Amino acid sequence: MADAVIRKTFTPEELEKINEGFVGKSPEEILKWAADTFSPTIGFASSFGAEDVVLVEMIARVAPGIKVFTLDTGRLHDETYEVMEKIRYKYDISIQSYFPDATKVEKLEREKGFYSFRDSIENRKECCNIRKVEPLHRALGELSAWMTGLRRDQAVTRANTQPVEIDEANGGLIKVNPLVEWTNDQVWEYIKANRVPYNVLHDRNFPSIGCAPCTRAIEGDEDIRAGRWWWELPEYKECGLHPVQMLQLEEQQR
Ligand code: ADX
Ligand code: SF4
Repeated sequence: MADAVIRKTFTPEELEKINEGFVGKSPEEILKWAADTFSPTIGFASSFGAEDVVLVEMIARVAPGIKVFTLDTGRLHDETYEVMEKIRYKYDISIQSYFPDATKVEKLEREKGFYSFRDSIENRKECCNIRKVEPLHRALGELSAWMTGLRRDQAVTRANTQPVEIDEANGGLIKVNPLVEWTNDQVWEYIKANRVPYNVLHDRNFPSIGCAPCTRAIEGDEDIRAGRWWWELPEYKECGLHPVQMLQLEEQQR
């Protein structure tokens, strides 16, 4: 049996101090702190979008103690598998993939077909739960902290994201978001300057990439997440991986 994970946490005062200390600091500094504080039980959840390839490059360079994992929903674009493979080779890293429970996917598809997520928000959340949230919980069960590529200016739901948070929805695990302060332009400057492999869908007007049937290219001056679940309102566009961000938005709106 695997050893129980020893969870480290912080008081609200400690957390505030940590986050104050990270204002204006580089993502690498946050990464190094995270690796020093939590290795070997810290994992980076990577979908291999633009932010995430930046972080994988930084991890390989300055914080190799951070594991990289991905939620392979079974509905990803081929281009996403291609970039995962390129990154795996280039940085010589192991990517821990987590797949949904086969019995649950079979039941969902047999009962509701292959595009049930188009019918209602409830059905969409059901699919995201089976294909993303449950596998995430499995991945987090082995960790004391996790990391993401969230940025504040990605969405209304993310405007309040902090570099270090307590993820109440996930058992009080520590969640580290080293890129919160970065803009989209900074991400792309970094990718180009460091020749980081990226998902070629980004060159076809897909700034944000999720599952293939739930992502489309954007047009004109549409918002960067306009192509995700484009039939839903912006405030619903979280799949359950980041409920803390949803709660923060609800608090702001109250
Ligand atoms: S989502 O919740 O709307 O799908 P988004 O695509 O913006 O999220 O990605 C935000 C962060 O969530 C990523 O930087 C990554 O840390 C994590 N994430 C999203 N999708 C996955 C995935 N399939 N596997 C692992 N991590 C993911
Ligand atoms: Fe299912 Fe779409 Fe969510 Fe992927 S993004 S898990 S296909 S509803």
